[in-house]
Amino acid sequence: MSTFPFLKSYDELQSELTRLGLEIPLSDDFSVLAEPLTFCYRKKTVTLPNRFVVQPMEGFDSGQNGEPTELSFRRYERFAGGGAGLLWFEATAVLPNARSNSQQFWLNEKSADRFAALEEKSRSVAKKRFGHDIISVLQLTHSGRYSKPIRGVRAPVIVQHSGVLDAAHQIPSDYPLMTDDELDQLQDAYVAAAKWAAKCGFDGVDIKSCHGYLLNELLGAYTREGKYGGSFENRTRFLRETLTRVRDEVPSVFVTSRLNVYDAVKYPWGFGVDRDDYRKWDLTEPKQLVTLLREIGVPLLDVTIGNPYFNPHFNRPYAKPIRGAVAYNENPLIGVARFVNIVKEIQQSQPDLPMIGAGTAWLRDLVPKVAAGIVKNGWASLFGQGRNSFAYPDSPYDILNQGKMNLKQVCMACSGCTDLMRAESPTGCVLRDRDYYRIP
Ligand SMILES: Cc1cc2nc3c(=O)[nH]c(=O)nc-3n(C[C@H](O)[C@H](O)[C@H](O)COP(=O)(O)O)c2cc1C
Repeated sequence: MSTFPFLKSYDELQSELTRLGLEIPLSDDFSVLAEPLTFCYRKKTVTLPNRFVVQPMEGFDSGQNGEPTELSFRRYERFAGGGAGLLWFEATAVLPNARSNSQQFWLNEKSADRFAALEEKSRSVAKKRFGHDIISVLQLTHSGRYSKPIRGVRAPVIVQHSGVLDAAHQIPSDYPLMTDDELDQLQDAYVAAAKWAAKCGFDGVDIKSCHGYLLNELLGAYTREGKYGGSFENRTRFLRETLTRVRDEVPSVFVTSRLNVYDAVKYPWGFGVDRDDYRKWDLTEPKQLVTLLREIGVPLLDVTIGNPYFNPHFNRPYAKPIRGAVAYNENPLIGVARFVNIVKEIQQSQPDLPMIGAGTAWLRDLVPKVAAGIVKNGWASLFGQGRNSFAYPDSPYDILNQGKMNLKQVCMACSGCTDLMRAESPTGCVLRDRDYYRIP
């Protein structure tokens, strides 16, 4: 386990923050988390019943055509039955070769019925248990550099060669880049998948641009030539054009993005980084991009950082490193504070645009006052949980009703769910849900 022990009380958390010169707001006013949040999209009012979000978590349990299976239904019933008002459905490939795993969700004409049933089931579980209407967003993805559509066979799709990531992932220097024509055609695949998402009943569609996957790589494609690389305008073109097309061609869903604002990958291969020192963030371009996304009509933004395949301590601070990954000896509290402070900076650059962050699971049962502190102080409008949605799906309900989380149910940030992912197994919590999930 980590050389950095878990913190056992809010006092200990506060004194550790002070010792390290970090800031994370705490509050015991849990009522802010119960407040509904309303935003408008195309003159339609969308109301989230509370401030909790189930962040997208790839389950890798789909059937032959990419459709949700019984195990997927169990996951989403647990998420919906836990009390969060917004369910951000996991990374769902827009094409078969865009999958990061042979069992990743893939939305197409053969799988759409099952997606519709999953959305409907999630909605009805929440309605029955809490009387509220959830808002559902489907995350659409192309796995880019991390594509692995056939079990055990890596099939990277890249848009630029990276002086950092190519070596880390054994990509040869003559490996071909996706062409501009292929990227143009990929936009059509996103629009087609968004049409299916609308037919399936999803409220929103996320054009995923994070965690090192294809669209995130484009944002930092400084060295690429042509219309999708080089300048800020070119690097952001794919995301802006795809969002605009989905907005115009699929008017019944709202458009959004889970957006990496800091890749923590050396310039000129990473987005949102200080050009002289990639360990520092420079949010000038991400803020410019958020302004443009807002002009396109994005009414809600999911803000994230890092690349889980390369620097997972940025994206999901942990107590135990992912098996086989480089172990960074960073105090996880620094990682949690980095994530929430970056989200704060983006949120406060556009206070009227509701935003969500993540990355707090390592805090275990100290999450509740942090969640309340973040929302109360305007560091983010909503509070998102990833790993705790697997470990402790009822945590939103417990925080809202008791102001606390049960230490025996919390995520232990053991990286077991990511280990499952790397082993190409269905993902879930290997500690709290071990009858269903075991590392092979
Ligand atoms: C097993 C696993 C699967 C994930 N799948 C997705 C995904 O499909 N899409 C995405 O944007 N993030 C994904 N994430 C990232 C989480 O949504 C979240 O940002 C991260 O775990 C940090 O938040 P936490 O501390 O609340 O867990 C995944 C994380 C894990 C551990």
